[in-house]
Amino acid sequence: MVDNHEFTRMMDTSDEWIRSHTGIQTRYIADGESAWELGLGAAEDAMRGSSIRPQEVGMVICSTSSPDYFTPSTASIIAGKLGVKDAICFDLNAACSGGLFGMDVASLYIGSGRVKYALLVAAEKVSKFLDYTDRSTCVLFGDGAGAVVFGPSERGGIISTYLAGDNTGYDMLVAPVNAPPTPFETKKPPALIENENAYLRMAGKGVYKFAVRAGAEAIDEVLKKAGRKVDDVRWFVPHQANLRIIDSISERYGLNKDRVFVSIDKNANTSSSSILIAIDQLNKNGQLRDGDLLLMLVFGAGLTYGAMLYEWRECNDQDQVM
Ligand code: ACO
Repeated sequence: MVDNHEFTRMMDTSDEWIRSHTGIQTRYIADGESAWELGLGAAEDAMRGSSIRPQEVGMVICSTSSPDYFTPSTASIIAGKLGVKDAICFDLNAACSGGLFGMDVASLYIGSGRVKYALLVAAEKVSKFLDYTDRSTCVLFGDGAGAVVFGPSERGGIISTYLAGDNTGYDMLVAPVNAPPTPFETKKPPALIENENAYLRMAGKGVYKFAVRAGAEAIDEVLKKAGRKVDDVRWFVPHQANLRIIDSISERYGLNKDRVFVSIDKNANTSSSSILIAIDQLNKNGQLRDGDLLLMLVFGAGLTYGAMLYEWRECNDQDQVM
């Protein structure tokens, strides 16, 4: 774990600024692990906790915006290492929203009968494209992975989903692929933003405003679709990007702290892993009861956003239903 004090030795920042502006106290930063290794650890944990054997898994989706390879997909690597021999495997990149986008895709495959069991992994090594001289971005993120095994069910699972995008904001959060030019390139490909370099750049204030606005839209829409009210929600599980964003949305909907999942203090923003890590932590802490309604909310680069209402069903550990 890397705490805020370590950054104060590297740049002009303070523990007080980071805590008061973001809620972050510590984050995990990979030390020699690749994104697929982080994902594999989470996937092994999820498989161990479920009653599903590797040969029963028909699909592996890995949500990542920080893969180690152009090809093969991170999902294929994880499947191969797990002994999942003949499943449909692919990566999905919807930035920080990818966990929920992945759940939606898995549910469509399971719902249509194309596959029975799907393993969804989110694996993010965001640290690889952070500029550790830019105090406005590098303190915000952490590396991490989460995984869930999903299967069909008559009861519980996804109640409603609302996914959306505001693609006018494609240039508000940019992290380029850092590959050398080919011998045939005489000029540089066009950049998306001014002063683009190898690192993540973010229009922080703009993303903040977007998250609060889009978050409210997604919550209203997903509740309306399901004919449910905020009062029905046991757990609000928002993407962990900034405590002030979480507090602002929670206050707007009258969600008290005992109904809001928060891990940003320990993990910082782990991009698309954040929502799967949240489910795992709530489950392992014994904080989920059969029938609990979860309201999940995501937003991220793209700009992507969405929400999902999910009814928790008591079953083997991380083995969940769609
Ligand atoms: N330490 C000390 N000072 C800092 C730091 C730091 N780590 N970072 C920025 N500052 C300074 C700035 O330089 C600025 O100084 P100035 O006024 O002298 O220019 C001052 O603090 C205020 O900066 P702001 O950017 O206005 O700070 P703000 O209160 O908006 O907080 C933050 C910045 C935390 C980035 C906020 O805008 C935010 O959380 N935005 C949303 C980010 C987000 O959610 N990103 C994830 C999206 S999901 C995904 O897909 C990755």
